[in-house]
Amino acid sequence: MIPDMKVGIRVCVLAACGLSLAGQPQDVNYDEARVPAYTLPDPLVLSSGERVTTAEMWIERRRPELLRLFETHVYGKMPPPLKQTSFRLRSTDRQALGGKAVRKLVTVLFDGREDGPKMDLLIYLPVWARRPVPVFVGLNFQGNHAVTSDPAVPISPSWMRPGKGVVNNRATEESRGAEASRWAIDRILARGYGLATAYYGDIDPDFDDGFQNGIHPLFYKPGQSRPEPDEWGSLGAWAWGLSRALDYFETDKDIDARRVAVIGHSRLGKTALWAGATDTRFAIVISNNSGCGGAALSRRRFGETVKRINTAFPHWFCDNFNQYNDNEDALPVDQHMLIALMAPRPVYVASAQEDLWADPKGEFLAALHADPVYRLFGLEGLPAREMPPVNQPVMGTIGYHIRTGKHDVTEYDWEQYLNFADKHDAKRRPR
Ligand code: GCU
Repeated sequence: MIPDMKVGIRVCVLAACGLSLAGQPQDVNYDEARVPAYTLPDPLVLSSGERVTTAEMWIERRRPELLRLFETHVYGKMPPPLKQTSFRLRSTDRQALGGKAVRKLVTVLFDGREDGPKMDLLIYLPVWARRPVPVFVGLNFQGNHAVTSDPAVPISPSWMRPGKGVVNNRATEESRGAEASRWAIDRILARGYGLATAYYGDIDPDFDDGFQNGIHPLFYKPGQSRPEPDEWGSLGAWAWGLSRALDYFETDKDIDARRVAVIGHSRLGKTALWAGATDTRFAIVISNNSGCGGAALSRRRFGETVKRINTAFPHWFCDNFNQYNDNEDALPVDQHMLIALMAPRPVYVASAQEDLWADPKGEFLAALHADPVYRLFGLEGLPAREMPPVNQPVMGTIGYHIRTGKHDVTEYDWEQYLNFADKHDAKRRPR
């Protein structure tokens, strides 16, 4: 079946279920009074019942246990890197963006073949900054050419969801810069950071095709044709791709691979969190409006629920996650434990006031209930007990804000992320 037909069919299925195109149903709970009573699992109690009392116990015993639970029940296990993966530097321009940036175009050949699955990385580094520079890395929704109006960035040849400037699931010149408002490139460069991004569909196109395209087939054992119930779906694959970008950074002398912040919005915010949990090389982890299956507590069942997300996006999580549809209390984890998996590294959770689908309060509470794990490390954790007012960020080793406005990434969000990155790495200031 061709991808466009599948998307068409999914739209019909969604319509039949009373869902809108964005997957948002009519009968969703947005009423705090209807949030059911729930008990969160304690991040600091081992499955044996033993209490975690030291940072060593967390690192050696509880963290691996929790990671395994998230793999088995939520995101699926991801495979180790492939030995065949190779990197191709396609071009370097030291006078890009009107002389402000070094622009590199790099291709990650996942299985080492030009005609195999591959991911194009777009990297901008501030020309004036002392090397190696710290970078933010995040996947984008519409192709690298959509994050900037820079005409030297090739139009992505990959499959695209319908959108501005997309014709027959292919991007055209019309889509150049379509996503630029979400990537504060000038601001990032002016603050001495680099930005690296790749199109998420290069890793796995975002539709349910039974995992025939993208990188999953590279890992099938003989006779296997789709991931096992406890193996990765698309979110796992996207997170895996972010780690491969980090592998590249480790080979690039202009980039400080020890100071990489992984960031993502919405489904790619869920992805950034899972990447941060599975790959501790990411120094800072930032979740922008990630909602259900991201920063929001599943047990609250406010806005998007486990059943809704598994129905609308059956390819995102592992098949085992379906066992928790309308059954959140049976989950051995909740999303505060995902935030806690970042400890002791800095992690930032951001919400938007009008983004009720993502449950801002549930996102805040997950950050709050990760705090005891950070305290175990003698760190500040989250410096708030109550949800802060809008547009008043709180920043400890856990950061949080809720800004006015809709589900989006804005200059305001970036300003906080840059402040947070500065706060946690004042060691090497840009010149
Ligand atoms: C849908 C989905 C969310 C997701 C969002 C996005 O709204 O239900 O879980 O975060 O899409 O990625 O934009």
